[in-house]
Amino acid sequence: MKTTATSCSNIAFIKYWGNADPQLRIAANPSLSMNLADLTITATVQFDPDFPSDTLTINGEHVTGGAAERVFRQMDIIRQKANFSHRAKIATESNFPAGAGIASSAAAFSALAVAGAAAAGLALSEAELSALARRGSGSACRSVPPGFVQWLAGGTDETSFATTIAPADHWDLVDVVAIVSAEHKAVGSTGGHALADTGVLQAARVASATERFIAAKEAVLAKDLPALGTVIEEDAVMMHGVMMTSRPPLFYWQPATLAVIHAVYQWRADGIPVYFTIDAGPNVHLICERPHAAAVESLARALPGVQKTMRSGVGGGARVLPSP
Ligand code: PMV
Repeated sequence: MKTTATSCSNIAFIKYWGNADPQLRIAANPSLSMNLADLTITATVQFDPDFPSDTLTINGEHVTGGAAERVFRQMDIIRQKANFSHRAKIATESNFPAGAGIASSAAAFSALAVAGAAAAGLALSEAELSALARRGSGSACRSVPPGFVQWLAGGTDETSFATTIAPADHWDLVDVVAIVSAEHKAVGSTGGHALADTGVLQAARVASATERFIAAKEAVLAKDLPALGTVIEEDAVMMHGVMMTSRPPLFYWQPATLAVIHAVYQWRADGIPVYFTIDAGPNVHLICERPHAAAVESLARALPGVQKTMRSGVGGGARVLPSP
């Protein structure tokens, strides 16, 4: 059977960085995110006993090597659950430009889990699909449920999955992404997670993560942007502190990253409620409420180091698309 599914990407308010179990991608700490409605990936999976091997195309280009192997490993988990060995033809398409410096693995592995499970005839619950997505990319588990999502790290494959804390229409937040570099990062997040424990700061970050997670969750539920913004900025900078003090160090920030951070402080001083967060890359995510999004986007575009911007509201969960 051939199935297509679509999934949003997500932006973490409280970051997942470092694994308690790298093989199973079980996080060292709880994380919290919002799905990004306008940054989506569709994945089509077809299993067929006549296919000689797994194949993957990304945006129409045939892909082999490490990236493809990672996708095929996720298909292996599905095959094991479905108890068959049919090879798969897999195609993913993103609605945002590849190489924009926007991580696509969360949306991709979430869409692949949902499409792959359906194509294999598996009727999995949302929690099971989230756990399956997590095996491909940790943050992908948060793209399966809709809206504002928590991932309680859990301790086992079955208990490490994400759930919705509030639906997408709970709060009209916008993520304006200030792209300062579209270059492919030298060290991807899988390599980065593996370095987290090599520095002394990770233990302190993990020990205090639950406190920030609870504060951020309460702020989302109360729609309190200053409270949310304060804790997400602290959490992002703390994750980058861990990265910068890993052995070897990981510096994702560019000079323009810091310039955007200082601009955010200035914009707030000027009365615009906007806060930043930064993933495993140099681009800055500007979080604000819808009425301020246009102003934030034009201010960001006017900064010398910002090449372009993208904008997204809060998105729904991953879902199978009706067959054409
Ligand atoms: O899911 P991964 O392995 O690509 O890791 C994601 C790590 C961050 O984006 C930096 C943080 C997060 O929680 O999304």
